[in-house]
Amino acid sequence: MKNKLKGTITESMVVAGIGLAAFYWVCESFMYFFLEPEANIFQIILGPDLFQVWTRILVLCIFAIFGSHVQYTYNKRRAADSALRESSEKYRTILESIEEGYFETDLKGNLTFCNDPFCKIIGYPRNQLLGMNVREHTAPDTAEKISRITEQVKQTGRPEDVTAYDVIRQNGSKTALELSISLLTDKYGKPAGFRGMLRDVTKRKETEEEKRLLETQLQQAQKMESIGTLAGGIAHDFNNILMGIQGNATLMKLKIGSEHPSYEKIKNIEKSVQNGTELTKQLLGFARRGKYLVKITDLNEVIEKSSSLFVRTKKEIQIHTNFHDGIWAVEVDSGQIEQVLLNLYVNAWQAMPEGGDLYLKTRNVMLDSSYVKPFEVEYGKYVQISVSDTGVGIDRETRERIFEPFFTTKEMGRGTGLGLASVYGIIKSHDGYIDVTSEKEKGTTFTIYLPASDKEAVREKGVPVEMLKGTGTILLIDDEKMILDVGCELLEELGYTVLSALSGRQAIDIFQKNSDKIDLIIMDMIMPGMNGGETFDRLRNINSNIKVLLSSGYSVNSQATKILRRGCDGFIQKPFNLNQLAEKIGKIMGKR
Ligand SMILES: Nc1ncnc2c1ncn2[C@@H]1O[C@H](COP(=O)(O)OP(=O)(O)OP(=O)(O)O)[C@@H](O)[C@H]1O
Ligand SMILES: [Mg+2]
Repeated sequence: MKNKLKGTITESMVVAGIGLAAFYWVCESFMYFFLEPEANIFQIILGPDLFQVWTRILVLCIFAIFGSHVQYTYNKRRAADSALRESSEKYRTILESIEEGYFETDLKGNLTFCNDPFCKIIGYPRNQLLGMNVREHTAPDTAEKISRITEQVKQTGRPEDVTAYDVIRQNGSKTALELSISLLTDKYGKPAGFRGMLRDVTKRKETEEEKRLLETQLQQAQKMESIGTLAGGIAHDFNNILMGIQGNATLMKLKIGSEHPSYEKIKNIEKSVQNGTELTKQLLGFARRGKYLVKITDLNEVIEKSSSLFVRTKKEIQIHTNFHDGIWAVEVDSGQIEQVLLNLYVNAWQAMPEGGDLYLKTRNVMLDSSYVKPFEVEYGKYVQISVSDTGVGIDRETRERIFEPFFTTKEMGRGTGLGLASVYGIIKSHDGYIDVTSEKEKGTTFTIYLPASDKEAVREKGVPVEMLKGTGTILLIDDEKMILDVGCELLEELGYTVLSALSGRQAIDIFQKNSDKIDLIIMDMIMPGMNGGETFDRLRNINSNIKVLLSSGYSVNSQATKILRRGCDGFIQKPFNLNQLAEKIGKIMGKR
């Protein structure tokens, strides 16, 4: 359209030139008509002689050329103007649409031009900014630095970057920016001012910080995972070793009788085994293993039982309970939860050397998604347990490390630093979380949240003591010869007839031949060749009613839980003593 218009105008100026020339021609003809009445029509129209004809043609050409030249010049200027307008519009759009702030100053640093993002970043309206010196909106240190850098840019003509460009906004807030600065020159190439690009890097810095934090957390989680695996492995092997010591000590004790001079020594061995077992329990808790016997549980009962046992030995501590009636049931391994509570009680007691108060509270809570997000658990119904003491409290620095394994502030021999690490591991493996608040010299509160279950809690029936000894045939399966030998003897001491197998395969052979005689099978879970899970399934295939008691020092990939879910009758954690073994067997045989 524009080009078409341009074309017509060009043509019209040429036509106008030709028109003017034609007008001149006509005037000449008229003039000749009046001055020479006897001239013929050709002489009047074309001119009286050849010179006149040529003159008229020359004038015509001059006018046409002049017209087209005027038009050509006019069109060229118009095109240049419109290209200039288009390009300045383009640069204006670019300057306003970028995130960076663009500005220009004179040599003294007074602002002569800036884009909208610049005004936004600096936080002043444009009319105030124009003419303002950069020193007026920069921190004193930055202003110094900028003076040095602009001098350098002026000298060398090379652009420079400024990483920490601190700006003070109109509202007084401070922002860290990044700036690149270069020289502006006049048409003679002399320095005329500076131009610069400003970037607000606050967001980028925040993202970088977030990323760094996530990486640290991930590394920490991976570190904990590998320490956990190591701890779990050690606990398993140790439990097997302790089982051998415990079993042999028990058998010796039974053989020699209480009058023997070594009887007390053997009892000491048993005590050491007991301490070792406590340690491996903490390791298993920290490794998030050992959650074997998950049952619908009433936490009020567990707290009541554990705290009354504890307080009996610690007279200097007053226990105050505030249990919510109708507390929701939870699905937990109550042995592990007792371990958690005991760790918290012991810590509280150690934090109150002069004695003090221990507050135990339970309540039902509904946690929404925003609340549980930082703890990485599901939202919904939870049972909250809080354990508060009036002890020495924990400072902020210590509080950040208390759940780390082997972190302790206690002197050598008093604490291993595994207590809270195992508390944390156990709560996590129950899909709950733990939080701590504390004030120095005032006390500490640990708050545990465990997901509530919709099922009803079942009360545990006590096992009569007279069931300690029994009769019947038991098949004992364990791949460790020593444990097998000790186990057989312990069972015989309890009055049972024992068959033994060193592997799953051997056990199946024995069971096939004696399935009508065998009343109970006690089997290890981790065995080379056919493992506990497969052995269990094959034994049950032979006789679906056979009672099975699972025993292990530790569970890999929660194998034990899987077997228990398939209908296994019970679990006993190695190392066990004669009473624990008798009680378990009694419970299972009594089920019949
Ligand atoms: N209730 C509390 N009051 C004050 N400080 C506490 C409390 N509970 C834990 N702490 C601090 O947390 C640290 C770690 O506790 P944790 O139970 O993991 O280890 P420990 O008690 O030192 O050793 P362990 O429990 O293995 O015998 C303690 O050394 C102590 O400084
Ligand atoms: Mg402790």
